[in-house]
Formats: sequence, structure tokens, C-alpha cells
Amino acid sequence: VALDFSANRVLRDCGAHYPIFQSPMGWIARSRLVSAVANAGGLGIMETSSGDIPGLCAEFAAMRELTQAPWAINLPVMFVKRYEAILDEVIASGVRFVTTSAGDPGLYVRRLQEAGIKVYHAVPHLDGARKAEDAGVDGLVVEGGESASIRNPKEVGLMALLRAVRKACALPIVAAGGIADGWGMAAAFALGAEGVQMGTRFVASAESPVHANYKQGIVDAGLYGTTIINRGIGPCLRVLKTSLAEAVVSGKSDFVNTMDAAKMAYFEGDLGAGLVPAGESSAVIDTVLPARMIVEGMIDEFEQALRGMPRVIADTSVQI
Ligand SMILES: Cc1cc2nc3c(=O)[nH]c(=O)nc-3n(C[C@H](O)[C@H](O)[C@H](O)COP(=O)(O)O)c2cc1C
Repeated sequence: VALDFSANRVLRDCGAHYPIFQSPMGWIARSRLVSAVANAGGLGIMETSSGDIPGLCAEFAAMRELTQAPWAINLPVMFVKRYEAILDEVIASGVRFVTTSAGDPGLYVRRLQEAGIKVYHAVPHLDGARKAEDAGVDGLVVEGGESASIRNPKEVGLMALLRAVRKACALPIVAAGGIADGWGMAAAFALGAEGVQMGTRFVASAESPVHANYKQGIVDAGLYGTTIINRGIGPCLRVLKTSLAEAVVSGKSDFVNTMDAAKMAYFEGDLGAGLVPAGESSAVIDTVLPARMIVEGMIDEFEQALRGMPRVIADTSVQI
């Protein structure tokens, strides 16, 4: 590949080969998927939002056997507040990169940085980006409303959000939401990102631990195959538009997606038993692929796209 990422701040901070992050995803972003992405040159990010501390500690340990490449851990701040001992486990795991989310990163950023860890904070809006910059984080993950899973009620699409954050903040940005290939990656870079993060694309990967029905649901979803539940009444969730999701959205069902219900759908493949997160990027995903093919195919497409827009690349962190 003829791409030169030597000026790319995201790679400088995270140590991966390519600026492609695999999202932290409760119960899903575990050692098998995270190590597959790391071994392919991307940055796999382990989840902790499941709150399954013993399981997660075993997963951190398993990573030592599975990869020599850099990998990362996500810490939702509201979860760390309930279980601060996780910070010691994260520091002991040897990771050099953490993303924080869901809360004030200022609470833990110093402690992590003093342990030699770079900290990027995930934000769904401009206010959050400004606050995170003031709190001293090293970079931002900027999540547009196209993204899967828990969404801010005041959602805005990635294109406008990315530009707004780029203008307001000097930090390196990783863009998330609606991205599933190298063309989307190039678009994000043209708007000021220096990396991309994808969740849905990696749910539908060979190494993802979810049931084939969930993966196929993403492949079959098409352009209109996701929907948002709880819009306007609390934490919203972008999920696959299954019959269950449609019943919830229309008010015909008062189903609550407990962890157990979601896990039935994730791992038993019963999409009538629980809601499954998926982003608008489902529209671009038409086959289940190994993580290595996802990462390498994306870099090939990214290069093709950049060759098609030479005026834009002069402005980004990659030379060709
Ligand atoms: C199944 C699933 C679970 C997720 N769980 C989390 C989570 O635990 N913590 C988090 O910060 N984001 C979570 N996300 C959101 C991702 O971090 C990311 O913002 C989103 O997936 C980007 O959009 P995309 O799925 O279209 O690539 C999840 C996404 C998916 C698909």
C-alpha cells in the first residue's frame, strides 16, 4: 500500500498500523474479535460496558496469548464510578490506549495518562467535545446519529457534527457512525478525521461471537433496516428494525430490552426475544467477512478514493 501515515496523530497515539478502530460493544468486543482486528493492523477495543468484571479480567489476560499488536479498552465513565477497581485492572493489562465514554472524562483522565495511557473520549455532540478537550483528553471519537446502540436524544448526523467539532477543537478525531468501507473512511478524512471507528461492520465479521442470525440481519437490513427506540423519552437505542423493534416503536409493545433479553438475541439468535444494535452502516454491509479482509479491503478502497480526490488529501493527515 502506497499510503504514508507518518503524520497521522491517531496512529502516533494508539500504535496500530491502520487508523481503523473496532468499536467497544458490550459482550461482543471480547478477545477473539479484538485480537483479530489487532492482528489485521487495526485497533481492537475491548468493551467493559457488560460490567462482567471477572469475565473481562480473564479476557484481558487472554489477549497476551492472542496478539503482540496494540489493542485498547473502553471505559464508560458511569460504570467506572461504580467499580473504580477496574482502573487498576486496565493499567495492569498493559494497554497504552483507552477510550472513555458516557460521562465526564475529567474524572479519570489524569490517572490513566500518568500510567502512560493515551485517552480519547467518545462524544455525540459539540458540547461534549469542548468539555473533553478542556478536561485534557488526547483525542476524540466523534459519533454521528447514524451509529448503532445508545444514542443521544439530540442526535445529529456525522457530516455536520464532524465539521463542527473539527472547527472548534484541535484534537485528533476518530469518526464513527455510518462508516463500513474505505469510501466512508475517505469521506471522514476529507471532513477532518484522522481515523474511523466501526461497530456494525465488525458485528458482521467472522470473528464476532454473535449468532449467525444477527450477522445475517445486518447483511439483509439495507438502507432502511434500522430504527431508533425510545426517541424523545430517554436514552435512545439504534437497533435492527425487527418485528419486535417495530412493535416497540409503534407503542404496541412495552418490551424492555434487559441484558438477558439482548443476550438471547445476540447469542441464541432469537431476534424476537431481544433488540440488537445496528447502525445505518448496515446499508453498506452485504457479506460477513473475516476481520483481516475488512481492514485490508478498507485500506485498498481508501487509497482508491484518495487517488480520486487529490485536492482534498493535501489537507489531511495522509500522503499518497
Ligand atoms: C452491538 C453494539 C454494541 C455497542 N455497545 C457499545 C458500548 O458498550 N459502549 C460504547 O461506547 N459504544 C457501543 N456501541 C456503539 C459503538 O461504539 C459505535 O459508536 C457505533 O457502533 C458506530 O456506528 P456503526 O455501528 O455504524 O459503525 C455499540 C455498537 C454496537 C453495534
